[in-house]
Amino acid sequence: MNSTEFLRAKAEGRKLSMVTCYDYTFARLLSKSPIDGILVGDSAAMVMQGHPSTLSASTELMRLHTEAVVRGAAGKFIVADMPFLSFRKGLAAALDSASILMVAGAHAVKLEGVDGHEDVVQRMVQSGIPVMGHIGLQPQSVHAYGGFRVQGRSRDSGQNIVRQATALEELGAFAIVLECVPANLARDISAGLRIPTIGIGAGAGCDGQILVLQDLLGMNRDFRPKFARPFLDGERCVLEALASFDQAVKAGTFPALEESYS
Ligand code: KIV
Repeated sequence: MNSTEFLRAKAEGRKLSMVTCYDYTFARLLSKSPIDGILVGDSAAMVMQGHPSTLSASTELMRLHTEAVVRGAAGKFIVADMPFLSFRKGLAAALDSASILMVAGAHAVKLEGVDGHEDVVQRMVQSGIPVMGHIGLQPQSVHAYGGFRVQGRSRDSGQNIVRQATALEELGAFAIVLECVPANLARDISAGLRIPTIGIGAGAGCDGQILVLQDLLGMNRDFRPKFARPFLDGERCVLEALASFDQAVKAGTFPALEESYS
């Protein structure tokens, strides 16, 4: 997959699957999977670093996670997130930050929103950097919303999201993440665009879907947003494995002879 194949997939009516990934071990597993694309999301700040929002992600953090994923998932299409404010401090600063992520091995970058940084999106596209948009709930604006809330429920807010989607397509974005918007709105936006929409909490009418890998694997039973279907009870699997190890150590059955050097 690559950014132009994303467009072809939409034209041919093929759905796209994406997951987030932040580390080498999972990237290696993803490279053996049929998943179409990997997002090195700034959700790394929450999922990997335990912060309450994505605001703590820096370009340096994203570089380190991007490099780890690139080492594990050679051959996969990798998009790296531009962190909070990194694309709002002027064109040169935005290009410097994007350059760090692309040199780290990303094949594209993702930016939240569009209003006020149209020039950044356009210059990146003109510079050969595929740009993925991200509208609807923009987690970097969590404090402006007063929490992680569904966006686009009112007529005005829905129309605003439609306008942003159109603007991103016109500026040359190759795809758009639609996060936490009503399914009808996401379906209408998807139908009106040439570029694919990748939904998260945006219903089945999007051209593809993305989930945070740890949510998909059910690694945290205490965090279950409505849209995040766990495809595995990862928390239970991991806890069972740890309990088995603990029991074997304490019973003296681990390590066995064949797990020891003569
Ligand atoms: O950082 C992230 O995980 C994301 C997804 C929610 C799309 O941006």
